[in-house]
Amino acid sequence: MADKRNSKDRFFYVTTPIYYVNDKPHIGHAYTTVIADSIARFKRLSGFKVFFSTGTDEHGLKIEKEANARGISPKDLADRVHIKFKELFGLLSISYDRFIRTTDEDHIKTVQHAFSALIRKGDIYLSEYEGWYCTPCETFLTKKSLIDGSCPQCGRPASKIKEESYFLKLSKYEKRLAAYIENHSGFIKPPFRKSEVLSFIKEGLNDLSISRTSFSWGISVPGNDKHVIYVWFDALLNYLSAIGFEEFQEKGKNNFNSFFKTANHIVGKDILKFHAVYWPVMLFALGLPLPKTIFAHGWWLMDSKKMSKSLGNVIDPVYLINSYGADALRFYLLREITLGLDGDFNMNNFVTRYNSELANDLGNLVSRITAMLQKYTGGFPPGQEVGADCGLIKNVLDITANLNGRYDNYDFARILDDTFKFINRVNKYINDTAPWKINISEQEGKRNLHKILRSAVVSVYCISYLIYPFMPGASAKINKMLNIEAFEFFKFPVAAKDILKSCGALLKDGRKINENRDILFPRITGDNKQ
Ligand code: MSP
Repeated sequence: MADKRNSKDRFFYVTTPIYYVNDKPHIGHAYTTVIADSIARFKRLSGFKVFFSTGTDEHGLKIEKEANARGISPKDLADRVHIKFKELFGLLSISYDRFIRTTDEDHIKTVQHAFSALIRKGDIYLSEYEGWYCTPCETFLTKKSLIDGSCPQCGRPASKIKEESYFLKLSKYEKRLAAYIENHSGFIKPPFRKSEVLSFIKEGLNDLSISRTSFSWGISVPGNDKHVIYVWFDALLNYLSAIGFEEFQEKGKNNFNSFFKTANHIVGKDILKFHAVYWPVMLFALGLPLPKTIFAHGWWLMDSKKMSKSLGNVIDPVYLINSYGADALRFYLLREITLGLDGDFNMNNFVTRYNSELANDLGNLVSRITAMLQKYTGGFPPGQEVGADCGLIKNVLDITANLNGRYDNYDFARILDDTFKFINRVNKYINDTAPWKINISEQEGKRNLHKILRSAVVSVYCISYLIYPFMPGASAKINKMLNIEAFEFFKFPVAAKDILKSCGALLKDGRKINENRDILFPRITGDNKQ
């Protein structure tokens, strides 16, 4: 599977935000997690040592209020709701290495450790906060930023608060952060988000309030348990605890250092400021390196409005998976909008894309090629000696030559576009060469037919490889139909000889393709269309 020659020193750490447990997950949570899962799968396939973390953000006033409203304890609420996220991620085949909860023991230690270290350093100090707060967004707001007394982000009323609070010295790191962002072009992606963050910093950074005294659901400030630590200070540190920061502090060795500097934090644009401003300052103060990339994607909207529980326009991902399959949802989320931009979730588009690209283009291609193999060669893919159509195979080489860069830029749109263009090329190749018209009573015709079939089956194998990060279920089904181990001969970057060798796998021990053929994507008809 992975390229063992290189995996020794190539690390890749990818994270999703940790999600609030005030409510069950919706399509937006599925989206971020599917993006992270796809890149994690691609990197593993390319020989990287990958650590993929996701999880839940369980402290803070918002959770305490929701628990009170339900008449249960905040920990009970977190215990119930975090399971819903795990269930969704299981259904979606999310290949995470750790599901971190901010109530986990090692995370609590990490947060208290960091807080104490920064007090000792003088980067955290005690004072008083007087200002505004939005509980749904767990954000401190200035009076100037309010719109008619409400939060500029979610539009809900903000509350005025005045209480003793610890502060983090953001102002001390303002210039260093601006310079870092200016000088590291890949730090904030997509590139157009960089100027947005820089202009926020250049307006001037006020020290950030990082503790509260008016409620109790959170991690206590070490040595002053009147205060609970601000939920965002707590939550951002999950990126350290998830990869063993505590163990690293105690024993001095694990892969913490190697992983952290390769971190790719995938977030929605709504929380970019926390990740691109507050988080780097915390890391500067702690003397740690910054993550490699913060990628902010856009929002899924419903009729151009943000989805929210209060508007009642939230789409339930579990329902879509149960109706159409996990791969169908993963595909729609990644294919419909270019990563970074906003888009409308539209059921008609979902069905149209599914039927035309998955059922028709991809599903039919696999089914006609496996059927032809059964019919013409008794299910045995023709051997290497018959050769393959270089023009067709070259398309795969062109795609894979750019693959690494495209993944690093989160250009999933181009990757999927290229892949579906190739799928259609193979369909056209079969139509143009029309194997069913070839006169196989002649030696020449037979050789020609075998060459076409071999080119087609190698192409299907390559397609399975290309779609694997996005649709792992469909890819596994194709491999099962072809009766092959997953990608045993692919190395990155893929070379022509690897592709041809992969056919060696198809022929190993005179291996026959599977007689049982699954329908990859059954068409959605009027009967099963919602
Ligand atoms: N707990 C914080 C994150 C802490 S990370 C250290 C939080 N949680 S959240 O439950 O509100 O999740 C927000 C994230 O969910 C967004 O940044 C985005 O990744 C995803 N989405 C939630 N709704 C979304 C859409 N409508 N569209 C796309 N993604 C959105 O913020």
